[in-house]
Amino acid sequence: MAYQRVAKLAELPQGRGLCIKLDGIEIGLFQVGERIYAMENRCPHADDPLSEGVLDGPIVTCRAHGWQFDVRTGFRPEDADGFPIPRFSVRVRNGGIEVDLQSEPLPR
Ligand code: FES
Repeated sequence: MAYQRVAKLAELPQGRGLCIKLDGIEIGLFQVGERIYAMENRCPHADDPLSEGVLDGPIVTCRAHGWQFDVRTGFRPEDADGFPIPRFSVRVRNGGIEVDLQSEPLPR
């Protein structure tokens, strides 16, 4: 388990995500209430960055064609049996957001 600091908590915008790169992987960070979620930043429809979509509660809407994903699970809300977007473990320490690419995300 190796968490790496990727951003300051204060950098997270409201209503959308924040794109960071870690070990060559582009990751979207999203804040829902007090929790932070991290998932691959690539929309599976046509690769648009989900961090630039609109975040409403836990649902991010891709800006390109409107597909929606629950950032807590990686699934599309209407298709929980489909393939989720990969997610990553994330935690906040001393005002910094840390991501661990190796461990399973904590339960939502
Ligand atoms: S690229 Fe995201 S909905 Fe088309």
